[in-house]
Amino acid sequence: MALDQKGSPRDSDDLGVGASRDSTAREQPVEALQQARDQLQAVLDAIPGIVSWIGADLRYLGCNRRLAEALNLSPEALVGREVGFLGTSPELAAFVREFFASPAREASRGIASREAQGALRHYLVVARKYQQDRVAVFVGIDLTERKRAEEALRHSLEETARGQRLLLALSQAAQAVQRARSPDEVHRVIGDEVARLGYHATLFTLTDDRAHLALSHHTFEPAIVRAAEKVAGIAVQDFRLPWAPAGFLQRLLAEGETIFRPTGEILAEALPGPLRSLADRLADRLDLQQSILAPLTVGGQTYGLLVVTGMGLTEADVPAVTAFANQTAVALENARLYAQVRAGEEQLRSLASYLQTAREEERSHIAREIHDELGQALTALKMDLSWLAQRLPTDQSHLAEKTGVMSDLIDSIVQTVRRVATELRPGLLDHVGLTAAIEWQIQEFAERTGIACDLYLGEEELALDSDLATAIFRIFQETLTNVARHAGATKVGVELQDRSGELVLIVWDNGRGLTESQVRDPRSLGLLGMRERIRAWGGDITFQGVQERGTTVTLRVRRPSARGGRQ
Ligand SMILES: Nc1ncnc2c1ncn2[C@@H]1O[C@H](COP(=O)(O)OP(=O)(O)O)[C@@H](O)[C@H]1O
Ligand SMILES: [Mg+2]
Repeated sequence: MALDQKGSPRDSDDLGVGASRDSTAREQPVEALQQARDQLQAVLDAIPGIVSWIGADLRYLGCNRRLAEALNLSPEALVGREVGFLGTSPELAAFVREFFASPAREASRGIASREAQGALRHYLVVARKYQQDRVAVFVGIDLTERKRAEEALRHSLEETARGQRLLLALSQAAQAVQRARSPDEVHRVIGDEVARLGYHATLFTLTDDRAHLALSHHTFEPAIVRAAEKVAGIAVQDFRLPWAPAGFLQRLLAEGETIFRPTGEILAEALPGPLRSLADRLADRLDLQQSILAPLTVGGQTYGLLVVTGMGLTEADVPAVTAFANQTAVALENARLYAQVRAGEEQLRSLASYLQTAREEERSHIAREIHDELGQALTALKMDLSWLAQRLPTDQSHLAEKTGVMSDLIDSIVQTVRRVATELRPGLLDHVGLTAAIEWQIQEFAERTGIACDLYLGEEELALDSDLATAIFRIFQETLTNVARHAGATKVGVELQDRSGELVLIVWDNGRGLTESQVRDPRSLGLLGMRERIRAWGGDITFQGVQERGTTVTLRVRRPSARGGRQ
């Protein structure tokens, strides 16, 4: 019974629970008193909070059952003890003391109190004085559950806000990733961006045989990596994630799902068998407790795995990391395709360049054969013919005439052979150089087409790599062919300059002028060939036309040293 003989009966009046006094009937009041006391006790025990009475001397006068149970005492054991004797709630003791010290008759305060079992509970304590302020009742309403619910709500709101901030930060990061041009660059930018947000990124790439995930990039500091290598006894750059048949990694990649895991758990699966027991220590050493694993998947095809690791990551961050992984996977795919196209272009370019060289060599060879073999055979024939002519009977004048015609024919064949050989491979190019070869070619052109030519060539021959000289000469020939074929020009000008190591060749005509669309047309194979040819030397060529005013072709190339060849 919580109501002791000193406290409660007097209390009941003030609490308005007891029955009225009647001094005339002695039996009745005792019974009524007992009834009132029972009634009060029932009420007090039914209250879903703690109730106590405390005197101005700060000693307990009584309490309800709930308080007694919370303190693991019998109600009687509390009576007469001083407030705060258990030390469970210094806050309550302070409140009681201050309340009695103040003139206020009512007060309330939120306090925390530890139960006998050690759990902390929160109460709103309402106090009221009575009996000329010599006693006060304290009613504590338990707010613990409500506080917990509020705490949980606040936490989840904070988590959501954090998740959203991460989502925003990562979607900005994804834009940076999309600007990367090669797979390696994509990996590096992913690492940089994730590290900027205070987390670590580890990237794995699925090997070509699709049997392993090989480590391709990570953002851990070298010192940490060394420490981890020491603990695990393996080199990080050789690290590959094995396929555990029923492991979460395989599930992850098969189902393309992002998951949240404690880092130790991931390491336990990823490390070779004997090292598994080290997983937690390793995670501690790396100061990494949480990880999010996201497969890098485009169109159902998995390329690898992104692991974002760091303190404080939660399940709530999974959507942000998933979105980031999806965007970076697209960037990775693009970079791969881009690299493939580039490699293809590179191959085509070297093939074209190889074919050009092969063609020049073949031409050279045929030119030599024609010049030497055929030239010498014709010379011998001519000598034989003149030997024959001298020995002809003097009366056979028609035979002498015939040998004369034959000799002239041989001369003209020799001329033709020379021309053909020179056109195949201008020996001038090899013997006297580019300037002289251009001069010869333009004279030929003028004679053949009747187009007037202006020449602005330097005095001295340029020291040039012979392959480069050939390339420039062939471009020059193609330019002249275009003038003859398309321009309808009456005049052509050629200028060759050496501007401090840069060779500039300009050919212009006064014809109809080529158009911008002809320059861009992928079917303009002649223009394309010229461009490719000089690009192989790091040079550049431009075509500019003005309608009915003419066309200007400008070639520029840095001149490597004469023997240097291609760089
Ligand atoms: N000097 C020029 N004057 C006018 N048009 C030109 C000239 N050079 C090139 N073109 C135009 O550019 C087109 C592309 O040139 P090119 O690639 O050499 O092809 P093509 O095999 O027709 O010569 C030509 O078909 C022609 O219409
Ligand atoms: Mg052409």
